Amino acid sequence: MADSDNIDSRLSRVYKQNGDKRDLFDDWAQTYDHDLVNEMGYVADVEACRQFETLVSDRQARILDAGCGTGLVGSRLKKAGYNNIFGSDYSEKMLEQAKATGAYLALEQHDLTQPVITDQPYDAAIAVGVFAFSLPSAEHLVNITCSLKTGGIAMVTVNGKAWRQVDWESKLEGFNQAYPHTRLVNVRTIEYLRTDGIDGRLLTLRRVG
Ligand SMILES: C[S@@+](CC[C@H](N)C(=O)[O-])C[C@H]1O[C@@H](n2cnc3c(N)ncnc32)[C@H](O)[C@@H]1O
Repeated sequence: MADSDNIDSRLSRVYKQNGDKRDLFDDWAQTYDHDLVNEMGYVADVEACRQFETLVSDRQARILDAGCGTGLVGSRLKKAGYNNIFGSDYSEKMLEQAKATGAYLALEQHDLTQPVITDQPYDAAIAVGVFAFSLPSAEHLVNITCSLKTGGIAMVTVNGKAWRQVDWESKLEGFNQAYPHTRLVNVRTIEYLRTDGIDGRLLTLRRVG
C-alpha cells in the first residue's frame, strides 16, 4: 500500500470512529507531523494562528492550546513571540511530542468532553484540528471557554467536511441563548487540508461573564 493510502485510511479511521479516539492518536503521534503537514497539506494551524495573532496582540497573554497534539500550534505561537503557552490533550503520546517542542510552560492530559479546570483563568484559547465529526462536539465548546477570563477569546477550527456532513450550522443555532456566558462572535472559512481541497471553519468565541 502506498504511503498516502496509509495516511488516508488513518485519517478516515479517525474521522469515522465515534467516541474516544485516544488510541488512534497515541498510535499516530510519531508520524503525525509528517503525515498531516507534508502529505495531507494541513494548514489549519497556519490559518488559525494567523487570525489568533490579529485578535490577541499581548505576547504575555496566558494561552491554552486545547487538543495541542504534537505541538504544531504552540510552536507556531512561540515563534510569533507568545511565551505563556499551556497545552492539553487526551493522548499521552501526543503530549510527549508536544513537550519535546519546548513551546509549552506546562502540559496536561485532559478530555475536552469535560470542562477545563484551572486556578488561573486564561486570556485566550485555541483549539485546532480537534472538532470535526464526532467528539468533542458543539456542546463541548463551552468546556474551553469556561477556562477563560471574562472578555477572553477562544479560536476553534472545525473540519469543513464535518461542518457540512454533521450540519454544524444547525448544531450552533441558538448557541448564544443556550450558553449565556459565551458568545459565538464570528465564523470564517479557512483553508484546512490542501491536498484534498478540504476547507475548514474558524470559530471565534468570547467569554462574556
Ligand atoms: C488532528 S489533531 C490536532 C492537533 C493539533 N492541535 C494540531 O493542530 O496539529 C487532534 C488532536 O485532538 C486530540 N483530541 C481529540 N479528541 C480529544 C478530546 N476529546 N479531548 C482532548 N483531546 C482530544 C487528539 O489526541 C489529537 O492530538
